[in-house]
Amino acid sequence: MRLHILQEVDSTNTAAGDRERYSGGDIIVAINQTAGRGQRGNRWNSKPGDNLTFSIVLEPRFLPASCQFLLSETAALAVADTLEEYGVEARIKWTNDVYVKGNKICGMLIENDLKGNVVERSIVGIGLNVNQKQFAEWVPNPVSMAVETGSDYDILQVLERLLSHFEKRYGYLESAIEALAPDTQRDYNAKLFRRDEQHPYNIPGKGPVQGTIRNVLPTGELMVEIDGSLQGFLFKEIEFVI
Ligand code: BTN
Repeated sequence: MRLHILQEVDSTNTAAGDRERYSGGDIIVAINQTAGRGQRGNRWNSKPGDNLTFSIVLEPRFLPASCQFLLSETAALAVADTLEEYGVEARIKWTNDVYVKGNKICGMLIENDLKGNVVERSIVGIGLNVNQKQFAEWVPNPVSMAVETGSDYDILQVLERLLSHFEKRYGYLESAIEALAPDTQRDYNAKLFRRDEQHPYNIPGKGPVQGTIRNVLPTGELMVEIDGSLQGFLFKEIEFVI
């Protein structure tokens, strides 16, 4: 892996999109990300120098497009592995937010380019709150490693640990893709936020329901029990009420 540390950039995901400059194995880290992008067109806000904002460029041609969610699981698990190494117990909120006791510590923006039926290039963008203690009031339920543990951390050391966990998880994904990476599936489901607990959800177009998350399939489908029957939801088809 090749590390590129940029003092300032609009978005590491946007920068990583430059195919002339970056290819599989490049990691673009921003000390100050001025226009961080989140999911659903949201912004990602991070105090300069306090947190990790970076993107990993991958060329996972071994990964069938139908299984691209396994890469999301891999990245979320690498973050959870890292947090656990620092004594922070993490849960993964489908699809790939990482939560600590009901608060969001990490968000990811994964942008895949498909060619034929494989993933030709992927940008795994990760924003992990490390040392930030105060957040803009529009950021919903944020937390950081420092808020959680009372200690500050060297962000590049945290990055080194995270990349080491990612390399392990990604190596496994490649080696076990034929069998649909059963350990990835097992570990992701074991860490699923709100699994087997009843909570309110919103189904766009239908309204509020009470549901119990049971598991996630390798396709990324979230299986939720509602009124005694198991229903599958794809991204954006169901919303958490936090
Ligand atoms: C979300 O939870 O909405 C996803 C947030 C993703 C933020 C990271 S920070 C590094 C990378 N570059 C971006 O512009 N976004 C991702």
